[in-house]
Amino acid sequence: MKKVPSGIVPVIAIDRYAAKPLHRQIYEAFREGIVEGCLRTGQRVPSTRLLAAELGVSRIPALEAYAQLLAEGYFESRVGAGTIVSRQLPDQGPLFNRRQRGRPLSAPVGRRMASKRSSVLTGEKVMRPRGWGAFELGQVAIDHFPHQIWNTLTARHCRDDSARSLDYGNPLGHRDLREAIATYLGAARGVQCEADQIMIVNGSQQALEIAARVLLDPGDSVWMEEPGYRFARHVFKFAGSKIVPVSVDEEGLVVSRGIKRCRNARAALVTPSHQFPLGVTMSAARRLELLEWAERTGAWIIEDDYDSEFRYSGTPIASLQGLDRYSRVVYLGTLSKVLFPALRLGYVVIPPDLIQKFVAARLVLDIGPASLCQGVVLDFLREEHFSRHIRRMRSLYGERCRTLIDCIRDELGSGATITGAQAGLHISVILNGIRDVEVVERAARQRLWLVPLSSSYIAEPRQGFILGFGSADVGAIPKAVQRLRNSLSAAPQ
Ligand SMILES: Cc1ncc(COP(=O)(O)O)c(C=O)c1O
Repeated sequence: MKKVPSGIVPVIAIDRYAAKPLHRQIYEAFREGIVEGCLRTGQRVPSTRLLAAELGVSRIPALEAYAQLLAEGYFESRVGAGTIVSRQLPDQGPLFNRRQRGRPLSAPVGRRMASKRSSVLTGEKVMRPRGWGAFELGQVAIDHFPHQIWNTLTARHCRDDSARSLDYGNPLGHRDLREAIATYLGAARGVQCEADQIMIVNGSQQALEIAARVLLDPGDSVWMEEPGYRFARHVFKFAGSKIVPVSVDEEGLVVSRGIKRCRNARAALVTPSHQFPLGVTMSAARRLELLEWAERTGAWIIEDDYDSEFRYSGTPIASLQGLDRYSRVVYLGTLSKVLFPALRLGYVVIPPDLIQKFVAARLVLDIGPASLCQGVVLDFLREEHFSRHIRRMRSLYGERCRTLIDCIRDELGSGATITGAQAGLHISVILNGIRDVEVVERAARQRLWLVPLSSSYIAEPRQGFILGFGSADVGAIPKAVQRLRNSLSAAPQ
């Protein structure tokens, strides 16, 4: 049974002039709260002294009400734990079936107008998929994370009770962390920036939302890679943008096709270091073509550099932002892959003339990033745990990636085209002659979770799978690939 700790005083309306005695009013208020599911089994109730003080009554009616609730089995008294709502009562739902927790008492009636914008994503799969098994997407090797070090650093920051650390912070984030990130990005990703251009965000998803608010008006067109990252597409759809899918080939986004389809798009969202999901690297020629288009038309380029810290072959690829002479690139990075996704920390490098606009949008959205984890990440960076962790993980993920590729070649043979294996935490496998969503359903029945490649396309989808390997033990990969092959073998050709 879930432990529900709370000594919170529930809402009790006392009427001193009512004919009903005070103890009866208190008794009925608690009983009602329990029956309605507002007070949960195991939840601690306030002491009679505290309750009486909060209600502004003497302690006697509170004592009488508690005695009755104890006698009738609504309350339970525990030595050392005070009085709690009895654990003998059913935990789930209402006691007398009057209403289910979280459900309204009656069907909604009357006009219930929501914004048009709120319906834009209706019908889209907006939930992030939660998977299981070897191929979970977006997962990292959390069992190899240096928890001990992280915990020590967190405890250090929790002890800081200075007024400054508990106050609202800078909407751009901790100055020292931004300095450290600017230094890291310059060295590791060839990003050209000052700390003043960096904003710490709650994951790159938030950076996309802020960028959409600052750069685009409803109805503006945005180039999106086809196939591309669904959760980025949702942000721009929600912002009222017109999505212009632009195909990707072995050199990345085909800029000439974008120009043909919509020359005057206001922005382009790209993943040039490791295209999501195909994993190709944008060629130098395409990078220059894209930058020139942006300069010529006044468009913005949003570069999502989400996992290129993990490169296993070829020379390291510098960012597109580092090539940009026109300050047209908004660069996004995330700690979701290098540390862990629950951290919800990322950063955006803002062109200097847009900083104030980004800050204004941020103040509206959530005022700024939470302090505690920024301090922890700063120490993690400064004390070199960060670089050590990336080095260790690069070798671990590299081994997982190679194992996965070998197994796919063994099990699926030459019919499977593997893309994107030089970097990141996933590969894509293109398979002709299957319907990937049907295979996904069959695999799910075998408790194997697969992401269909077709889900990353808007039109003319290719068939196959996006296979994550970040959380897959090397030993578990061969079996998982066999199960994938078994799910395929029943597929219509
Ligand atoms: C293409 C792409 N961009 C960004 C992210 C990271 O998003 P966030 O920083 O919000 O966790 C992911 C995560 O899976 C991704 O696949």
